[in-house]
Parts: sequence; C-alpha cells; structure tokens
Amino acid sequence: MDDARARKIKQVVANNFDQSFAAYEEFEEKHGFFADLTRALAEFAGLEKGMKVLDLGCGTGISSAVLAGEFGCRVTGIDLSAGMVEEGRKRIRDPRVELLVGDACRPAAATGNRNFDAALYNASIFIIPEARQSLQAAVACLEAGGIIGFSFYPELVGADGQELFAEAFTRCDRPRPKKQTITGYNEALAGLESCCGAVREGEYSKPLSTAFLVDFFSIPAQSASLFPRLDYRERKTEVKKLFAALEPESESARIVWRLAAGRRPPAAR
Ligand SMILES: C[S@@+](CC[C@H](N)C(=O)[O-])C[C@H]1O[C@@H](n2cnc3c(N)ncnc32)[C@H](O)[C@@H]1O
Repeated sequence: MDDARARKIKQVVANNFDQSFAAYEEFEEKHGFFADLTRALAEFAGLEKGMKVLDLGCGTGISSAVLAGEFGCRVTGIDLSAGMVEEGRKRIRDPRVELLVGDACRPAAATGNRNFDAALYNASIFIIPEARQSLQAAVACLEAGGIIGFSFYPELVGADGQELFAEAFTRCDRPRPKKQTITGYNEALAGLESCCGAVREGEYSKPLSTAFLVDFFSIPAQSASLFPRLDYRERKTEVKKLFAALEPESESARIVWRLAAGRRPPAAR
C-alpha cells in the first residue's frame, strides 16, 4: 500500500474513533468486554508483573488500565485518536499508566523509548494499514526476548464451524463489504512471524449474543467496518437488522477473537 493511501486510511480511522469515545466507554461499562479481551491476551502472551509494556492502539486506555491494575505492569499506551486518549487521561488515575497520541507504525517517535518488555495490540492490529511495518517497529522497541502479541477482529462461528457474518448479510439481502478489516488475520500473523519466527496462536470466545453484537457494532468506529458507505444513523438501523438475522444461532454459535503472540529473538538486536 502506498504512503498516501495509508495516511488517508489513518485519518479516517482517527476521525471515526474521535467520534466513538463516549459510545466506547458506555459499551465497556455495560459489557466489560475490552477488559476481558485484554486479560485473555495478556495471559496468553505470558505477561508478568513489573513488565514495561507498550499498548499499541490503547484507545481510552481500557487495556492499559487492566495491564497496570491487574498484571502489575507499567504501561505506555499510544493511539492515533486524540479524542480517545483525552477521554482515557480523564478516567485513568493509575500512575503506572501513561497515554500518548501517536502512530503505532512509529512507536519510538511517540514514546522516546526502546526498552519495553512487551508490546500488545488489543483489538487494534486489524485497523492498521501497514501492520507489518508497525509490528517490526514495535519489536524494535523490545528488549531481546520481549513479548509481542495481538487480539484480532471477531469472527462468528456456527455450531458446524460455518462463518456467520456472510450468512447474516445474505439473510438481510445486504452486500457484505469486501474487507471488514483493513489488515487481514493472515497478513497480521505473517507480519508477526516475520519479526519473531515462531508464533503461538489461540483464541478467546464467548457464546453468540445478538444483543452483545448490536451493542459492539453500534460503536461508531465498529459500525464502519460493516456498513462503510452509510451514515451513522443508517448504520445503526442496519446493524440491528443484521444481527436479528442470527437470532436462530444465538444458542449454538460463538464469537471468536483470535490471539497470536511471539517473542523478539535474542539475536535480532
Ligand atoms: C478497538 S480500539 C481498542 C482500544 C484498546 N486497546 C482497548 O482494548 O480498549 C482500537 C484503537 O486502535 C487505534 N488505532 C488504529 N490505528 C492506529 C494506529 N495506526 N496507531 C495508533 N492507534 C491506532 C484506534 O484509534 C482505536 O482507539
């Protein structure tokens, strides 16, 4: 992807999240979801107490606050959206958490540091157009052997393993966007492998709840991944219809977030 296109995408992403912080916090208060996903990712990746952690795409700092408060880490979060960061700074009082506006593709420029023990992307890697470049820049900020990992965009998986996003769009007679994420899972995984060699994969999942999905995809920035061409009011209506179509699967299907983690090889420094 050329630089101009990546810059344009990042502007749109920052604008979308600048409009999302209130809805984002409201969603989290109700579901506690991003905190749960952070716990799953941090445990999967093997974070330990006292580690110095870079939280890439920290948003309002929900992930940063969990890493500090529950895992005893010192956390520097960076995010493209000044609105998300400002909201996080108002909310988080933990002195172990610092939130900065910055691009995950240039973490050293934002933080001025290259001595992190771990770097995590909780629900952010798939929104970054140059994910491989970002992963390489994040690994360059790690001590040798440092941990790097991400959690990915949700997949909807039926009882027989069928992919249910496609099914929902078909049932609603709406076109599914060609790409729901800016970077795909395999691309992000390949980027991680290019920095770490061996990578472990896992998942975090919960039973499919249409009410949860409606709330999750009614956050302005999340709704853009499903109905990029509509304005926000129309998107909200379509989100409700889309997931109502999956009501028959709500007992049997799952929402799955893939996890992946690796380490900076000792010789890479
Ligand atoms: C779904 S939110 C996740 C926030 C946080 N990690 C959490 O667990 O609550 C994704 C965040 O990634 C940020 N983001 C997207 N692209 C970015 C980039 N290139 N650099 C920094 N942040 C980025 C967005 O602004 C957004 O706040």
